[in-house]
Amino acid sequence: MANLQSLPEIPLGVADLQQCLRDARRVAPLARGPLGVILALRQRQLEQVVGDYTRQLETDLLQMRGITTGPIFDFYRTAMVFSNGEEHRRRRTPVARTFAIKLIETMRPRIAACAEALIAPLVGKGAVDFRQEVAAKLPTSVVADILGISTEGLPDFHGWINDASESLGFFDPARQSVIEASFSSFYQFVGGLIESRRAAPLDDFLSDYVRAATEDEAVSDLEMKTQILALILAGSDTTRNALCMSLALILAHGPQWRAFCDDPTGLKKNIVDEGLRFEPVALGIPRIVVQDLEIDGYVLKPGTFVLASLLSMMRDPDVFREPDTYDVFRTDMPRWHPAFGAGAHRCLGEALARVELEEAMACVARLAPHSALVHGLPRLSTSGVRQVDQCVLRLEA
Ligand code: HEM
Repeated sequence: MANLQSLPEIPLGVADLQQCLRDARRVAPLARGPLGVILALRQRQLEQVVGDYTRQLETDLLQMRGITTGPIFDFYRTAMVFSNGEEHRRRRTPVARTFAIKLIETMRPRIAACAEALIAPLVGKGAVDFRQEVAAKLPTSVVADILGISTEGLPDFHGWINDASESLGFFDPARQSVIEASFSSFYQFVGGLIESRRAAPLDDFLSDYVRAATEDEAVSDLEMKTQILALILAGSDTTRNALCMSLALILAHGPQWRAFCDDPTGLKKNIVDEGLRFEPVALGIPRIVVQDLEIDGYVLKPGTFVLASLLSMMRDPDVFREPDTYDVFRTDMPRWHPAFGAGAHRCLGEALARVELEEAMACVARLAPHSALVHGLPRLSTSGVRQVDQCVLRLEA
């Protein structure tokens, strides 16, 4: 059996992470990351990392930081994404059943209109902060629409989302009380929405979800509130950063951008696929090994932290021809895009994210084909959900 100690190391905060991963891939199928995490580098390992020999992190990271009560802890202990086995299945099924692709496709015209309402007023207005003015607002407005909430009367909504999203990474302990306060307000608000649908069901997603969660799966009230909150959070940060990066990438590749402007409808799926492959917003998928797991001749023991490095897997030369080239015309994209994960926890918001990204980028191509980046390509952080540092654009007709 191969020795884990001989694996190449990926140091914390390395300047060119992709180069470092490329060098590692040349010598081994796995690498050692910071804090003893084992990184799986090859696309073929994705299913193994998320399979039966590992488990999803539950409240592990919070407990390591001494957080064992309070609203952040409640969120982690009741969210589907941080649960395993039967508990995960029970929490996921009613969402999967009601937050369906059909619902999202029927929303496509509303999402396109929402994108246009945000983008059109910025055309011809000089340098604009696209991240703030469009990418942050679109996912929130869309999810608010799905839940039947008017965000206009809710000035705190964006603030709650920003604060609560911090809890999904390594947040500053000094921020704990602020984040907890936002979670509490958020829980109270979502609780009110659920109560209103219970009392008077409407023909909408939330009413369907409340019924399915209560009648089909005996999901508790706290669990129900958490799944709704999780949908709001999971869809905000990811889509915001993915939209900025995907649009910036296509704008930075002139001939491909012009091809997109000539045929926005035909190419919008390709633009989303390639943007998410070239610069994924989720750095990787973390798991804890529960049974001896053999990957390419290395045995990971129970208790080992393993990360399916999406950053590395989506540049795997065994799968992608010229993986370091951004090419929206590539024909080697796997049927299930790895950016959305795999296995039992595969993203439930893929359809929604795709429609938002496709419609927003097609709208820019249609209304502002002479657009350009003002400060060059954004840089992405190395946090779990990678954040763009800026996305300033000039939107020109
Ligand atoms: C570009 C945008 C997005 C990306 C790249 C993305 C990526 C991911 C990934 C990689 C996972 C798997 C996590 C794991 O296995 O540990 C995941 C799970 C999830 N995502 Fe997304 N996501 C996006 C947008 C959304 C949206 C818009 C929503 C909903 C509004 C959403 C809801 C969820 C939920 C509920 C889960 C947990 C599923 C489970 O645990 O069973 N995501 N996402």
